[in-house]
Amino acid sequence: MVATFKNYRDLSAFAANKIIRLVKHKKNAVLCLAAGDTPALTYHLVVETAKREAISFSEIIFTGLDEWVGIGPDIPGSCYHFLQQKIFGPLGIKKTQIHFFNSMATDLQQECNRINTIIQTVRGIDLALVGIGLNGHVGFNEPGIDPAGSAHVVTLDEVTSIVGQKYFKTNTALSKGITLGMAQIMQAREVLLLAAGTKKAAIIRRTLKEDISNAVPAGFITTHPNGWILLDEEAAAEL
Ligand code: GLP
Repeated sequence: MVATFKNYRDLSAFAANKIIRLVKHKKNAVLCLAAGDTPALTYHLVVETAKREAISFSEIIFTGLDEWVGIGPDIPGSCYHFLQQKIFGPLGIKKTQIHFFNSMATDLQQECNRINTIIQTVRGIDLALVGIGLNGHVGFNEPGIDPAGSAHVVTLDEVTSIVGQKYFKTNTALSKGITLGMAQIMQAREVLLLAAGTKKAAIIRRTLKEDISNAVPAGFITTHPNGWILLDEEAAAEL
């Protein structure tokens, strides 16, 4: 389903409401949340509502979506740091509730295996909230990805390494990422893909108008039975 909202705030309120409703309904739901600029307001609204309505997140499980290889959790710009600041910290989420990639691990393949096992053990993701890269990536599933893949290490697209600088105060070498695979995202019981702003308009056009293929990985989400492409009017401008 594609839903277009008047503005970023309405889009974020819709996504936040989906998370809140799930958490109210399923105390031990498994959430997979993206970092990035786009979901920031969604997380702010989730925290605000959870506090206002005293909604407990104490049994919710969080799985990581992706991380920059070699960028530790304490470094502003890492996906973990972002989520810690925006949602884990404010909601008082315990470390035992969070299953995130350790992108500093010496054996990254073992780290992928560890996360694959965790996702199986928790019986899959209830809700995955993802963004979209300017090249159509989801997590770090870059163009050309194997759609059947599970967690893996990826050499980042040039676009991703360049755009990724926006998360860091100083120039940071970003060459590899570690990410859940497209199949794991597609196996989530519900997927929300958020896109906001004019800069996302061209890739949203490609996502929704081109034949579905790994050239634009975000396109796969349009085939998910419970997949939502949530846009603001600016991101929908080229449709
Ligand atoms: C990043 C991340 C994605 C994120 C996407 C969009 O590189 N790997 O998980 O969703 O790009 O980010 P933003 O919301 O900042 O545009």
